[in-house]
Order: sequence, then structure tokens, then C-alpha cells
Amino acid sequence: MEAWIILVALLAATMAYVLHAHRRTDLGPLRVPGLPLLGNTLQLGASGAPFIRQCRQEHGDTFTLKLIGRPITLCCNPKAVAAIYSAPEDMITFRPAVEQFTQRIFGIPSGPFFDRHLDILNALRMLLTAQHLRSHQQALIQHMRQHLQQTERQHGKVDLVSFITSLIFNAAVSTLFGASFLPRHGADKVMAAFSTFEKNFELAASLVPHSLLRAFCRARSFLLKAFKVSYDQGDFRDTVAGNMIANCPWLPASIAPNMLLALQWASQANSVPATFWAYAHLLLPQHMELHEAVRESLKGGDDDDIIAAAMDSRGLLAKVVAEAVRLYSPGMDVRMAACDLQLPNSTGTDFLPKGRMLAVSPYEMHTAPDIYGPTATLFDPLRAIPHADDAAKGSGAPAWSWGHAGIAFGAGQFRCPGRQFAEAEIAVVVAFLLTCFKAQLQPSGDGRIQLPEPELRRQIGVRWPRTACRAALCVR
Ligand code: HEM
Repeated sequence: MEAWIILVALLAATMAYVLHAHRRTDLGPLRVPGLPLLGNTLQLGASGAPFIRQCRQEHGDTFTLKLIGRPITLCCNPKAVAAIYSAPEDMITFRPAVEQFTQRIFGIPSGPFFDRHLDILNALRMLLTAQHLRSHQQALIQHMRQHLQQTERQHGKVDLVSFITSLIFNAAVSTLFGASFLPRHGADKVMAAFSTFEKNFELAASLVPHSLLRAFCRARSFLLKAFKVSYDQGDFRDTVAGNMIANCPWLPASIAPNMLLALQWASQANSVPATFWAYAHLLLPQHMELHEAVRESLKGGDDDDIIAAAMDSRGLLAKVVAEAVRLYSPGMDVRMAACDLQLPNSTGTDFLPKGRMLAVSPYEMHTAPDIYGPTATLFDPLRAIPHADDAAKGSGAPAWSWGHAGIAFGAGQFRCPGRQFAEAEIAVVVAFLLTCFKAQLQPSGDGRIQLPEPELRRQIGVRWPRTACRAALCVR
């Protein structure tokens, strides 16, 4: 008899738990219809950013997708986004939203990394602050010159995407990781492995078994081995990468290669496509005047002039860079609700249960006419920044709208630690290309001069061009 009572009590408790858990995860903003089990995974994977736009048009600023069995609520209301980025950790948290990806992709164990995550970010920020930028930029220019001298073809018809990728990869990796790393393992081999790693990044972050992603696994183990060999040989001594590890002595030495791989991905994956877009837009016939104005801002075009223009955060070159980053910004930045939440929407508030994954879409917000105006999707470095005046007057307008690049670098305490370095790096490379080369975009099949479409299916990182971009380069 007693056993019966215990059994019934257990059953009732289990039912209550299941129903409660079900009710809790079902609460919250409208769920976009999808397939059983897969939810909206295929719709997002097949269409990407246009699917997010369609959801927002049909369901409003806050809606919930189900991705591989898990609900994730997208918040596109500027006030909700400002609240997400500024909320304390006990309300909206970073670690549980990203730790499984960090572990899965880079092989960084969660404990040693996330227990002192902010310390690691601050260590990196310190190494990339304004006082170090000048020497980083000098190094970048020197490595770009060296790279161009070593490559056979400096002019003629090129694919601008590959040309810029190879130029920045060689120069920026040598600047951040030291001059010995690439030659020791073969620059072309490292770049090829990095490119395979990067192309498969999003798939590898998903639940697709890594046994099906053999090229990704091969590339990752090549890169990890290269980082380990170079770390043991002291190649990273006195470099940004080496000092980042040295300034975090509590990190186990065994995960140094994984940390270095993470830094390599973070520093290359966004800056390379952003530089392509910034430079390529200046080559379009409709931007000829802008092109000339930027060249004039470089004065004589020697290294000091290039660096001075790149360091001028209010100058035209900085606006060109920020506009490229804004227009091709990442598709998703994720967090998790650490408690039951009420987030503002245009008519009131949305309830979000504790444990709900939250996502902000910089790309959706930056290209939305209701936020950035009717010219949201045009490249216009001189555009007025929405809400900037309101924010300056302290009216409570979202702080993320102050900068020209919007929320492309994230915001709040976890914002990109490489932002200043990235903006200056992109500016230096664009200025260097403008002073070294005369470039002309080649007409596409239909005779028009246009840029490739951006890849909109991926949601992580700045958008890469979908196809090659032919240009004729001639040394000035
Ligand atoms: C156009 C260039 C770049 C863009 C758009 C960009 C964007 C971002 C974004 C959106 C995040 C996540 C922020 C958040 O969750 O709020 C991030 C994180 C990060 N970025 Fe960047 N980034 C760029 C360049 C760089 C560069 C050049 C470096 C290093 C030199 C870098 C290092 C990092 C690191 C280490 C993290 C991870 C921080 C963490 O563990 O929380 N980034 N970046």
C-alpha cells in the first residue's frame, strides 16, 4: 500500500514537472510555425536573413524560432536590444548561450575559460588599446609591403576577394601572432586550413556530428598542431597573441593552442570581408566622388599619412569602414535569460521565461527601413545615425545607436574586444590599397559594374561575398 502511494506521488510529481517545464518553454513571444522536431531550422538554413525579415514583417519585432528542437527568441525592438546588452548577468547571461559552441568549435573547456572570461577579454582589450594601435598599424603596413613583394602578380586582372583575403591574412596574422608563425608552417597551408575551418564554422557549431565534417576536423587539427609547435618554440613571445596567454597565467598551458585558434578566427573572419566591402564600394562608379575625397584625406599617401587618416575616428575613412561593417554585419548575437524577464516591445512588454535563448540580429536591424530609414540598405558613409541626437540629449534612446557601425561589434560588457584594432586595421588596409593601386571593377556577365551579393544564409560573422569580384589592378 505504501509503495502505491509513493509511486502515485512520484508519477504526479513527474507529470507536474513535465507540464510545468512544457508550459514555461511554451510561454513568451509568438512562435513561428515550422516542421515537427526540426522547427524552423531548414527555413533559416535555406534562406537566412530574408527569412528573419519575413518573420519580423509577419510576427512583429519579437518572435520565437525553434532551431534544432530549441526555442530561440529574436528581439528586434531597439529598446529591447538596448536592455539585452545592458542587463546584469543575473538577468541576461552570456556563458550558457555560447559555451557549448566554444567547446565544440575550438575545443576550449568551459571551466578554465568562462570562470574568468571577463579577465581574458580585458587582457586582450589592454593589448589592443589606442596606445598600441600605432605600432600595430606600422607592422601591418610593413607586412603588407612584404607580402606584395613576395607575390608574383601585383597587377592585372584579379579576384578582389582572394587578393584582399590573402593580403590581410598574411599581414594581420604576422602582426598579431608574430613574423615566425606563418613561415614555419607555410603561409599558404595555414591560410588554406583556416579557410576550410572558417567555411565550415557554422555547420560545425550546429549539432551536425563532426564525423561528417572531415575537412573541418582535418583543418582544425592542422591549425591546433601548428599553434602548439609555435607556442612551444616561443614564436608568440612579445606578440599580442602570446601576451594574451601570458597575461592569463591561470589558463592551463594545454589549452593555449585552442585559445590561439579562437583568437585567429575572431580576428580574421570578420575583418577580411569587412575590408573587401569597404574597398570595393569605393570602386563603384557611383562612389567616384567619395573615392576621391577619401584619397584626398590621405594627403601625400606616405605611411604617416595613412596611419593618421586611419586613426582619425571622426574622419571620412572611419565612416567608410563603419558603414561597410554596418551594412554587412553579423546575423545573430546570442544571450540567455537568466531569470523570467519582461522585455519592452512597441506596444508594451514580452514575457520571456528563464532559460530562453535570446538573439539580437545586427544585420536585420541595420538594414531595416523603420530603424535606419528608407536608405538603410544603401552604402552611404555620410548617413545620419538614427537616434544619435536623442541619445546625446540623454533621452534614453538606445546607447548602441551612438556609433556609426551600430551593434555590429555587439555591445555591453561582452562587446568585441578587437573593435578598435579592427576599425583601424580595415582603415589602414583600405588606405594602403588606395595609395598603391589604381583599380577598376570589371563588368559582370550582363555588362553591368556591380558588387557580388553577400552570403545571407550564414548568421555568424560579417557577411562574405557569395561570388568572386573581378577587378583590374595597376600599381600607381
Ligand atoms: C569587422 C571586424 C569585427 C567584427 C564585426 C567583430 C564582431 C564581434 C562580435 C559581434 C562579437 C561578439 C560580441 C557580443 O557577443 O556582444 C565579437 C567577439 C570577439 N571578437 Fe570581434 N569583431 C571583429 C574583429 C575582431 C578582431 C580584429 C579581433 C582581434 C584582434 C576580435 C576579437 C574578438 C574576440 C576575442 C571575441 C570573443 C569575445 C568573447 O569570448 O566573449 N574581433 N566580435
